[in-house]
Amino acid sequence: MAETLKDRHVLVTAGPTREPIDPVRFISNHSSGRQGYAIARACAALGARVTLVAGPTALPDPAGVRTVHVETARDMLAAVEAALPADVFIAVAAVADWRPAQPAGRKLKLDKASLASLPLVENPDILKTVAGRPPGTRPGLVIGFAAETHDVEALAKAKRERKGCDWILANDVSGDVMGGAENAVILVTPANAEHWNRTGKDAVARRLADRIAAAL
Ligand code: CTP
Repeated sequence: MAETLKDRHVLVTAGPTREPIDPVRFISNHSSGRQGYAIARACAALGARVTLVAGPTALPDPAGVRTVHVETARDMLAAVEAALPADVFIAVAAVADWRPAQPAGRKLKLDKASLASLPLVENPDILKTVAGRPPGTRPGLVIGFAAETHDVEALAKAKRERKGCDWILANDVSGDVMGGAENAVILVTPANAEHWNRTGKDAVARRLADRIAAAL
C-alpha cells in the first residue's frame, strides 16, 4: 500500500466519555468507538504516525497506533492538547456535552441526596477548541463528525461553520448507526457535499484516509 500519509501526525478522538456522578455512577452514551478506531487504523495503514485518544470502549488498542485512554471530556481535551502538534485532527468521539457540576466523593444515598435534580455544567468542546487554535498551532486539517436524523446535509454545513472545522463527516442516523456496522455518510467540505454510498465503517475510514492524503 502506498505510504501517502508518511511523516504525517494524525490525531483522532474516539468512543464515549464518562462523566462521574459519584464513585459508582456516571453519565455516558452508547458510542462503540468503532468508527474512530477504524479511522486510526486506516491512517496508520497509509504510513501516518497516529495518536488515538479514546474514551472507554471494548476494543483492543490498534496495532501501530499510540492509544491514550481517558474517561472524561476534560481528560480527553488535555490528552489531545498534550499530543499536539498534529497535521490532521479528527474528532470522532461522542463527547458527553454535560457533566455533573460536583461529582460526589462518596456513593450517593438516595435517602439523603436525590438524583432527581442533578446540577450539570457544560463540557469543553474539543473540536471547536482545536479548530480555534491560533495559526501555526492549529492542525492544517480539522475534521468533525455529525450524527443527524433529518436535514443531514444542511445541518452538517451549519455545524461545520459553528465548529470552525474544515470538514464534517455527517452520518445519517435515521436508521440505527451508533454502535451499528454501517454508515450512510456525507462529507461536507468548504467546496461541496459528497454523498457516499452506505457502507461499512472500515470502508468509510479507508475512504476518509485517502481523501485526507489527497488534501494534504
Ligand atoms: N465534539 C467535541 N467535544 C464536545 C462535543 C462534540 O469534540 N464537547 C465533537 C465530536 O467529536 C464531533 C462533533 O463535535 O466531531 C459533534 O458535534 P456535536 O455538537 O456534539 O453534535 P451533536 O452531538 O450531534 O449535537 P447537536 O445536537 O448540536 O447536533
